[in-house]
This record gives sequence, structure tokens and C-alpha cells, in this order.
Amino acid sequence: MGPHRVFQPLKQLNPDAILGVMARYRADTSASKVDLGVGVYRDLSGNTPVLACVRRAEAELLAAQSTKSYVAAAGRAEFNDAVEELVLGAAHGARRDRRVRTLQTPGGCGALRVGAELIHAATPAVTVHVSDPTWGNHASLLGSSGLELARYPYYDAAAHALCFDAMLQALHEAAPGDAVLIHACCHNPTGSDLEPAQWTQVIELLQQRRLVPFLDLAYQGFGADLEADAAGLRRVAEQVPEALIAVSFSKNLGLYRERIGALIVIAENETRADAVMSHMLQIARGIYSMPPDHGAAIAARIFADAELKGEWIAELGAMRNRIVEMRNLLARRLRQATGGGSFDFIGTQRGMFSLLGVSATVVDRLRDVHHIYMTSDSRMNLAGIMPGNVEYVAQAIAAEALTCGRKNGS
Ligand SMILES: Cc1ncc(COP(=O)(O)O)c(C=O)c1O
Repeated sequence: MGPHRVFQPLKQLNPDAILGVMARYRADTSASKVDLGVGVYRDLSGNTPVLACVRRAEAELLAAQSTKSYVAAAGRAEFNDAVEELVLGAAHGARRDRRVRTLQTPGGCGALRVGAELIHAATPAVTVHVSDPTWGNHASLLGSSGLELARYPYYDAAAHALCFDAMLQALHEAAPGDAVLIHACCHNPTGSDLEPAQWTQVIELLQQRRLVPFLDLAYQGFGADLEADAAGLRRVAEQVPEALIAVSFSKNLGLYRERIGALIVIAENETRADAVMSHMLQIARGIYSMPPDHGAAIAARIFADAELKGEWIAELGAMRNRIVEMRNLLARRLRQATGGGSFDFIGTQRGMFSLLGVSATVVDRLRDVHHIYMTSDSRMNLAGIMPGNVEYVAQAIAAEALTCGRKNGS
């Protein structure tokens, strides 16, 4: 009998859907290839730039840094404070009541995972309700904690709009104490967000059914601006006793690989908030111990310095405007190419993503025949559209959509 093989039961897994698209795009040698797959911002040259405010803050940081010793399991206090203010606003009632606690995390993913572990530690029987569809990684980040997952209807692919009544009805049936994951803005993958009146109805439902909101804020500033994109979230946080907020600075500060985010938890009162924080720290210690510091140190400098912050807000506005322009341009070109308005929705949705609304067969043909890459659910990253490729993309979509027929007959 030979030595035991611990890894023997492990079979090769299929690559993660998004990472698989990235790998195929890289291997494609066509000069006309277009990447609408991976979810990163791109400028007009196709680069994912280091923001100028980040470069400046980083240079100052490197010049001043005197140690690489550990910071703390909660991360930088000044970062966590500034994040609370940015997300909740300076005068939020829950902050005034000292019911808010914040943990710096490795990206928004770290925040989602620690948040799920926290709910599981408190009440293992909780179900987390996520939108259908939602970002591909939500299921594993939340499900890995041991929580049950359920899906509430969110988007009608045929109408290219929210199916809000069905959403309310499904959440009405959720058990008291269950958690509801809500994209705070720029819903990934649909680009369709709740309107203010719909936030009001969701808040009423959360209160009535005693559901716990878990808000995912990964695109603050990509929809309208920093304030407006947090408006719905702030109202929720004002009106419920408990909430979790997973924040990411990957996109709005372009700090993807620095892994910088935060988990904000609002508890019923100050004593409960302290108890919750002690659990957040213990969970973090048990998974990754300390969050990476570099990105948080850069972000904290930008948030604290009026000039750097102003520069950031301007750069964020430029990223947002470029995406809005490309949305409008693609919608116009598709109107010309198809002779109809069935893709006009691309111009009105928000954030980096929209679902084109075509079948997986059309997605495959766009890739194999036209070298245009998107995920199999037909999610497009609009930041992959350039003035130089928009006509090509519109013609290809029109040709394939007209040949194969649009999904759901629309
Ligand atoms: C909806 C949503 N939530 C959270 C994240 C987490 O991002 P990160 O962990 O890179 O900060 C992303 C990133 O794509 C996202 O799209």
C-alpha cells in the first residue's frame, strides 16, 4: 500500500465563467477582437488606468512610509471612518447613535464573505435572498458561509426592465429574519436599479417582514454621482434596526488588485454594535487575519485631502461619462443597424453592465464568428465599447440577432 494521496478525490473543475471568457479572449489572435467580458473599466485606449489622484497619493505615501508592520485586524481607523462618511453621509442617524461599525476588508468580496459569516455565526438558519440574475460570484461568496441561498425575481429579460411586483411578492414570502442582498446601484449584470419610489416600497417590506438588508455597493459614483448612488442605501440604513453594507473601491478608485473594501454593519444599539464588531474581528482573523494595507492607505489619503478628493471626483465623473457616452452611441448604432428601437434600453441603463438579451447560441456566434466576447448570459461591459469598434459591434449584433432571433422573442 503506497502513501495516502490527499488530493486524489479532486476532479478538474470548469473555469469560473468570467475567467474562462478572459482566457479565450487572450488566446484569440484576431485584430478585430472586442472584450465586453471582464468587469473592469477601460479608457478610450482600452487601458484600465491608474487614476492620477491614486498616483499622487501613492507617491506621497511611499515617501512618508516608515514601517510595513501590521496595522490591525480592523484595518486603518481613518479609512474606516472616511468610508462610513462616504457611504452613509456625514450626518447619518445611525452614526450619530454610535450603532455603526466598520471593518476594512480585502475588496468587496472580502466584505461579502465576512458579512455572510457574521449572519451565519448569529443565526445559521438564515436564508439570503439574492436577485435573479445577480453577479456570478455572489452565490459562492455568500453560500460558502453555510447560509441557504434563494433567488427573488428582479429583471424581466424580455421587457429589459425590473419585474418589481414579482420581486415584492417573492420577498413577502421570505421568513422573518432572512437577509436580502440588494445591489445599491448599477446592478450587475442588468444595469437596472430601483427608483426612489421602489426603494420606499422595499423599505416598507423589510420593516413589515422583519428582513435584514445586505447592501452591495460596488459601483458608487458610476451611476449618477457619489451622493445619488448611495441615496437608496442611506434611506434603508435610516429606517431599519440592522443592516450590512459591503463596499468595494475596486472600480471607483481603480484599485482592483490592491483588494480594498469595507464591511459596514449597523446594529440595534451601541452595545450590540460592539458585540457584532468583536465577531467581525474574530471572523476576519480566522480567514485572512489582516486586510492588505496599501490600497486603504492610498484611499484614506484621497478621502482626507480636499484637493486629492476633488481630483478623484473629477476622474470618477470622467469614467462615468465615458460609459454613458458609449451606452448612447451603441444604442444609436444598433438602431441604425437593425432599423428598430429594440436595443434602446442600453442607452438608459446604468453602470458598466447590460444584458444584451440574446441566447447563448448568439453569444457563441458573436465570439466564434466576430471575435466579440461576453459572458454566456449575454452580459456586456459597456466600457469595452470604443468609438473605433462600436460600428463593428453594432453590425455584428444586428447580423446575429436578426439571423438567430432574439431571446424571448423580443
Ligand atoms: C456586484 C459586485 N459586488 C462586489 C464586487 C466585488 O469586487 P472586489 O472584491 O473586486 O472589490 C463586484 C466586482 O466585480 C461586483 O460586481
